[in-house]
Amino acid sequence: MTTLLIFGAVGDLAGRYLLPALASLAASGNLPPELRVRGAGREDLDRDSFRAHAGEQLDQHAGDVPPDTRDTVLDRLDYVVADVTDPSAVASALRGTTPLRVYLALPPALFEPTVRALAEAGLPRDALVVVEKPFGTDLEGARRLNRLLAEVTDEDHIFRVDHFLAKQTVQNILGLRFANRIFEPVWNARHIESIDITWDETLALEGRASYYDTAGALRDMLQNHLLQLLCLVAMEPPHTLGARDLRERKADVLRAVRTPTAAQTARDTVRARYTAGRAGNRDVVDYTAERGVDPDRGTETFAAMTCWIDNWRWAGVPFRLRSGKALGAARSEIAIRFRDVPHLVFGQGHEPEPNVLRMVLDPDRVELSLNLNGAGDPFDLEPACLGTDLAAQELPAYARLLLDVLDGDTTLSVGGAEAEEAWRIVDPVLATWSTETPPLLEYPAGSSGPSAKT
Ligand code: BG6
Repeated sequence: MTTLLIFGAVGDLAGRYLLPALASLAASGNLPPELRVRGAGREDLDRDSFRAHAGEQLDQHAGDVPPDTRDTVLDRLDYVVADVTDPSAVASALRGTTPLRVYLALPPALFEPTVRALAEAGLPRDALVVVEKPFGTDLEGARRLNRLLAEVTDEDHIFRVDHFLAKQTVQNILGLRFANRIFEPVWNARHIESIDITWDETLALEGRASYYDTAGALRDMLQNHLLQLLCLVAMEPPHTLGARDLRERKADVLRAVRTPTAAQTARDTVRARYTAGRAGNRDVVDYTAERGVDPDRGTETFAAMTCWIDNWRWAGVPFRLRSGKALGAARSEIAIRFRDVPHLVFGQGHEPEPNVLRMVLDPDRVELSLNLNGAGDPFDLEPACLGTDLAAQELPAYARLLLDVLDGDTTLSVGGAEAEEAWRIVDPVLATWSTETPPLLEYPAGSSGPSAKT
């Protein structure tokens, strides 16, 4: 009988994502029959009051959960009051819970003391420890956390969460690249001119100031999600799709990403924050007027950064990463732009458009733009597009991720070396930004973002 032990079970993350994920698993028949879920936290609840709280969270965040699914989830729940940084409290929370998955759904400041408490409480070696993002707030913090985790368990038993890896299109990058003969010969700097990885949101702060205002777009999105996408697009082919091979290939390519100097940061990054406007059919107040925001902190709600990968495959190809909140249109995609043909046979005025392979994340779609001779003048080129919509993802990302956690499968999680490398790339940018270089720009909510480009 597997136990999922959730530290921080009454917190926002558990309510917003984990309980709804359990409901999705139950509704789709994927909830393991033997699974028990034990919540742990400081809140003074007992089993029944925790179940009542969980029920409210499901009503709020899980849409229309059929009553029997709701009951199936609530019946599995149990609760222990525990200060998760206290080893003896953790030891009693662990009692009778083998095999065990411990999910740290906690504020980042609690990760280190909690892992220390797990070590002292004698976490079983075969337990899987699940650590939410952000994994540290800088390289030093990520290293410390990795060292601590290594004291309680081995790398194969650590699941560092990046829920983007559980998104269908993201997994499709693997299929597209490694199950199709036609792409590998052209997947390099000789044929590819640039790669854009974009995650534009219409959502604004959504009441998350306590976390977001100390994070900002670079830490919130680029350091983890977008660099993970870069890994899957740019890594060398792995020998297998096993967790170790994938993690090694991803870490390798991150190691080849150039450490940004101050001059490169000034040239290759943009930071900005939104002012009042209307985005996603809603009025949005100025970021600095949001409750809980400290305007002097200068937190960016938009970040763009060009990464350069110094290896044979990618030398000279810009990887442009960008993400922003409160923008006019939601856009999430990876666009791979191929170089022009080497010789033009269609005369002046008939130049072909570059081929672009686009992987759209929401809704899931893959398309490739081509030039064809259309009807009429045979020398007049017409743009055409080969595209396919992918069936909607069967399970939402967090449910997919939880299923892997319960199976003890770490393939779609982040390795320790990757987490450190990602901070090695982002830390110097943050350091240069703290010297007001480049300056923090503004963009009205609902616009297409700052006009500056990387
Ligand atoms: C989260 C970020 O990790 O990912 C959010 O903290 C962002 O700021 C979110 O909105 C986007 O992912 P999804 O899958 O929730 O759209």
